Amino acid sequence: MKKQLTIGLFGFGCVGTGLYEVLNRTTLLQASIKHIVIKDLSKKRIIDPGYFSTDADRILNDKEINVVVELINDYEAAYAIVTRALKAGKHVVSANKKLIAYYLDELVSLAKENNVSFLYEASVGGSIPIIRNLEEYYNNDSLSNISGIVNGTTNYILTKTGEGESFDEALKNAQELGFAELDPTSDVDGFDAKYKLVLLLKHAFGFTAKQDELWNYGIRQLKDWDATYAREKGLKIKLLAYGTRINNQVIGFVAPHLIPANHFAFNVENEFNAVVVEALFSDKQLFLGKGAGSHPTASAVLSDISALQFDYAYEYKKSKTEEALAFESDYSVKVYLSATSQEKLDQVRFIETLETYSGPSHSYKIGIIPYEEIRKQDWNNEPDYFLAIIPDSVELTKGIEFKETESAGLIEELS
Ligand SMILES: NC(=O)c1ccc[n+]([C@@H]2O[C@H](COP(=O)([O-])OP(=O)(O)OC[C@H]3O[C@@H](n4cnc5c(N)ncnc54)[C@H](OP(=O)(O)O)[C@@H]3O)[C@@H](O)[C@H]2O)c1
Repeated sequence: MKKQLTIGLFGFGCVGTGLYEVLNRTTLLQASIKHIVIKDLSKKRIIDPGYFSTDADRILNDKEINVVVELINDYEAAYAIVTRALKAGKHVVSANKKLIAYYLDELVSLAKENNVSFLYEASVGGSIPIIRNLEEYYNNDSLSNISGIVNGTTNYILTKTGEGESFDEALKNAQELGFAELDPTSDVDGFDAKYKLVLLLKHAFGFTAKQDELWNYGIRQLKDWDATYAREKGLKIKLLAYGTRINNQVIGFVAPHLIPANHFAFNVENEFNAVVVEALFSDKQLFLGKGAGSHPTASAVLSDISALQFDYAYEYKKSKTEEALAFESDYSVKVYLSATSQEKLDQVRFIETLETYSGPSHSYKIGIIPYEEIRKQDWNNEPDYFLAIIPDSVELTKGIEFKETESAGLIEELS
């Protein structure tokens, strides 16, 4: 039976305001917002000021409020709010991928101990219903791969660099249009996509990845010559979150990919997101939708609230049914690597070089590189390089040793 939901809302920014609006236009849901806690009481709001306070206790100590919706932009403050709400026996809906990626197992346990639901569909892919599909639709299908464009800001920037704008111009325009924050680090260095990948790996494979296990490299170091290379070859550069399962090993990273026209992400442009799920029985399926924005994101929050009417909770079936999985770092991957000089390019060890170019402004190489070599550098802060993965090129290298040859800076397979 449907139950009446009385909501205490934290945050009334882009998504919080959107939620208020979509709730008002939804007739089927028995849910109402009782109180809203924000940070700055002096800000002008679009609704009656009587709704607002800065006092979290007004929600957390109110017995009538049975659902806390957390839509704030501060993950540490969100941690305090969400843990208190769960302990107080309130269901929680959140869109805060950073909070959830950092504290996933703790929050899941807390929800279970207190017999309440903790839902977060909006935290990955905005309007795309990927978490619930992974939980419900694919619960009996063994998944081998999940990858996607999960950050709208960088996809917008890459759409523009693909059309000829420089990275700096595209970022500035994205900031002016409100697609990128003044400090774009989380988006352009791939952190935001990594938080989302943590959640995808949990629901796809039942694997809780540690933050430092997943390599995140963004698009800050993209140069005009990289965009030109892609354009001339009929390719595109897209920032993909990538997760794969090989036997009981899980590999995951966020990195730019150099993709061909037949790749699922090729025509996913601007702020759109797309996720491809590859399963044993159903093969590849693509989810496409708006990855951000007030109403699209609020629609996912609304869907979680609606699910609470029927006491819906994630069951983490894959965590229960799958054998123990381990993170794998012994693998190689094919990459395009450009550098500001041949000397710089030669400092990176490749297993095999497939194509190479040396010119006056820059040099590049396409070849196979061990992940351990990638891990050595903080690529986000290496202005002399830009690296992009060639799709579907991950191969396990366990048991194989490599030795660097002195002449070409290459690495030779020993066994
Ligand atoms: N925007 C999107 O398209 C999108 C998409 C997916 C997920 N999300 C996630 O949704 C959440 C909200 O994003 P947003 O874009 O709506 O952020 P936003 O527009 O910056 O709004 C943030 C809101 O949080 C409030 N706030 C900040 N600290 C607070 C605290 N300690 N206590 C109570 N309220 C506090 C702010 O109050 P004031 O109004 O008083 O400043 C503001 O109303 C974030 O976790 C974000 O990652 C956003």
